[in-house]
Amino acid sequence: MRISAKTKFCVIIGDPVGHSLSPAMHNAAYRHLGIDDKYVYLAANAKVTDVGKIVTAMKVMDNFHALTCTVPHKIEVMRYLDWIDPIAKKIGAVNSVVKENGILKGFNTDWLGAIIPLEKMINLKNKKVALLGAGGAARAIVYGLKIKGAEVTILNRTVAKAEKLAVEFRCRFSSLENEKIIGQSDIVVNSTTVGMKDGRLPIKTGNIKADQIVFDVVYGKKETSFLKEAEKRGAKTISGLEMLLYQGVAQFELYTGKKAPLSIMKNVLKKL
Ligand code: ATR
Repeated sequence: MRISAKTKFCVIIGDPVGHSLSPAMHNAAYRHLGIDDKYVYLAANAKVTDVGKIVTAMKVMDNFHALTCTVPHKIEVMRYLDWIDPIAKKIGAVNSVVKENGILKGFNTDWLGAIIPLEKMINLKNKKVALLGAGGAARAIVYGLKIKGAEVTILNRTVAKAEKLAVEFRCRFSSLENEKIIGQSDIVVNSTTVGMKDGRLPIKTGNIKADQIVFDVVYGKKETSFLKEAEKRGAKTISGLEMLLYQGVAQFELYTGKKAPLSIMKNVLKKL
């Protein structure tokens, strides 16, 4: 145990948060770099009504260095911060807060979590992307896709929500039933919560083809049914664990100012 009175602490809050892999991922990286005396990463369950109090605690406790927010705190936290990065403002959510000279700064690293694994496979410029879902996760993803020059169509069960997001980010929209758009896309990204707790599919997979990339933001101990179906049809796949990894890598660098040890963090997720 190398923790002392000088150790800075980072806390992830959520409701629930018990399933979070962030503490294991970041603490393994601290150990690997020999900075586990300088930083420790913890988790705490917190109600959304208490987020303001937690931010106050962060302000007044000198070693309270960083605050990670997961569902449902990413929007609520924004009103208590001293400064918000323009990208996080545009996305409308903050997942990473870091204290710099007493100033609380909010960032969003979720969009990088989605875009980095995609860019490792394909240049996104002018690629047709079908984005399933129009919730919080979709906002970060559509931001990243548009920045990289992709042509995005948002497909959602509630079409009015797809339309609202599409107007804001200047893209097309349709319903989840629009199989033609799936067939015409280079990339299909599932950002709905469908398949999280059961084996359900967000869409019919009959139009998924071998030359497509299918990315499912949902992750768990096992591969989702959606990715299994896509693989059967020959598509290349990206799991939600990759998004978790790369948002964590970007967050590690924000919190420590050091390059994240990618393979160490990846190994933690493999042991899930
Ligand atoms: P997150 O922050 O994880 O994106 P969210 O903001 O609650 O969560 O958004 C959930 C997304 O999953 C929405 O796009 C939602 O569709 P609606 O806008 O129609 O609610 C989608 N979703 C959830 N359950 C669904 C279901 N059974 N079938 C289709 N889409 C579903």
